[in-house]
Amino acid sequence: MELLSLPGLALAAALLLFALCLRSRRTRQPGEPPLIKGWLPYLGVALEFQKDPLGFMKTLQKQYGDIFTLQLGGKYITFFLDPFQYHLLLKNHKQLSFQVIGNKIAAKAFCIKMLAECDDLNHDLHVAYQHLQGKSLDILLENMLQHVKKVFEHQLLETTNWNMAYMLQFCSSVIFEITFTTMYGKVLADDRKKIINELRDDFLKFDDKFAYIISDIPIEFLGNVKSMQEKIIKFLTSEKLAKIQGWSEVVQRRQDILEKYYVREDFEIGAHHFGFLWASVANTIPVMFWAMYYVLRHPEAMEALREEIDHLLQSTGQKKGSGFSIHLTREQLDNLVCLESTIFEVLRLCSYSSTIRFVEEDLTLNSETGNCCLRKGDFIAIFPPIIHSDPEVFEAPEEFRFNRFMEDNKKKTTFFKRGKKLKFYITPFGFGANKCPGRFLAVIEIKLLLFLLLTYFDLEIIENKPIGLNHKRLLFGIQYPDSDFLFRYKAKS
Ligand code: HEM
Repeated sequence: MELLSLPGLALAAALLLFALCLRSRRTRQPGEPPLIKGWLPYLGVALEFQKDPLGFMKTLQKQYGDIFTLQLGGKYITFFLDPFQYHLLLKNHKQLSFQVIGNKIAAKAFCIKMLAECDDLNHDLHVAYQHLQGKSLDILLENMLQHVKKVFEHQLLETTNWNMAYMLQFCSSVIFEITFTTMYGKVLADDRKKIINELRDDFLKFDDKFAYIISDIPIEFLGNVKSMQEKIIKFLTSEKLAKIQGWSEVVQRRQDILEKYYVREDFEIGAHHFGFLWASVANTIPVMFWAMYYVLRHPEAMEALREEIDHLLQSTGQKKGSGFSIHLTREQLDNLVCLESTIFEVLRLCSYSSTIRFVEEDLTLNSETGNCCLRKGDFIAIFPPIIHSDPEVFEAPEEFRFNRFMEDNKKKTTFFKRGKKLKFYITPFGFGANKCPGRFLAVIEIKLLLFLLLTYFDLEIIENKPIGLNHKRLLFGIQYPDSDFLFRYKAKS
């Protein structure tokens, strides 16, 4: 009680400030990389970094080289910028853990607590990711195709009038509905559309605050985030999910595993589903947005894609006709080299997915350029935008070139730096043991949607303006745009 009085609060604030200043007093020890603390206690260089992440990192790279430690929001993160050193994260994976970070995000963002205490649960859930590949992926694609048809059914019959929409809203709505229905099945209630829309709106509001949610700020200070979080979790509890028909194999398998570790009614089962739903849409939405943005602004890309699509339709004896009569297999989608190159070019331009690992114990990394000492409790990260925008690897990196990842009508996978072939030239899905298990599904979903939108609709940009990246979710996946734009679409007659 004493502490809640005015002098008590002042004392607490003074102690906190003192603790923050002490933490900022860290000095560089022999063998450690250059340390850049900035002048703000606790925040360090967070503000400069957030303002212009790529420019800031490039300046530091010129000044300090490819390895340095930054103080960012109370954490010390050592960045490795040279792609030939990325493998050091893999080689030392026992001391550099994903688990500590993954568990913290799971607990803070999704209210999942058991993962931190139960390795078996973690292991079983990882094994279940195999249902995002192979035969299970074929079934997911088959179901996805049916759901896309349902989503666009109404617009397809409307061949005379243009529909106008904001692109980000359009992509959020389409990706959310299609992904949710493909993974979790069909909500059976009469007002299913309203239910899905409400879930999507809560989800997007929650996601907008994601960077704050996983920071050290208590969730209670973030407005209504806590109640939104609870509402979404309640929607995904076992009881509620039982009313949804047509779960995918991966969701069924996860539910079986969760029922082994929890009682069926446990709220935390819903929390796990929330985490998985978040992973399956949070990045796919902005990728879809950027893909549409670039394709609509680049007629040469649009033409090449339409040509590739027409060629596939002709060679498989399919006609565009009214209604979605087209059938596509995974192999056919995989072979659309131009479409794939376009998606990878989009990922190159907007992916800030930084593989981050927690340093579990004091450690010395041995690299060709010398040893580097890391401290227990710090973090280590790679920052892919540096390589994605390196003119030595990608000519005119600021330009969108839809065919950058293709060569002689085949996928291009050879890129060089300092005359040496690069293993990691584009890493939007991370790498190593925790590489995104949903990457095949994500690429297939975007390919399918682009394929169908370009095949069945005339698309026109209305507000043709340059749009930049919004760095709210810096270091975490795909960056959202800093504004939206209007476009229109009409079913081809
Ligand atoms: C374009 C879309 C996507 C991007 C850019 C993306 C990116 C990533 C990244 C960077 C990671 C962390 C990897 C690491 O730290 O090494 C990750 C993890 C994960 N992603 Fe994705 N992802 C996408 C779509 C999906 C989809 C569609 C699903 C599920 C259907 C999914 C499920 C997951 C899961 C479950 C994890 C955690 C893996 C683990 O715990 O080991 N992702 N994703």
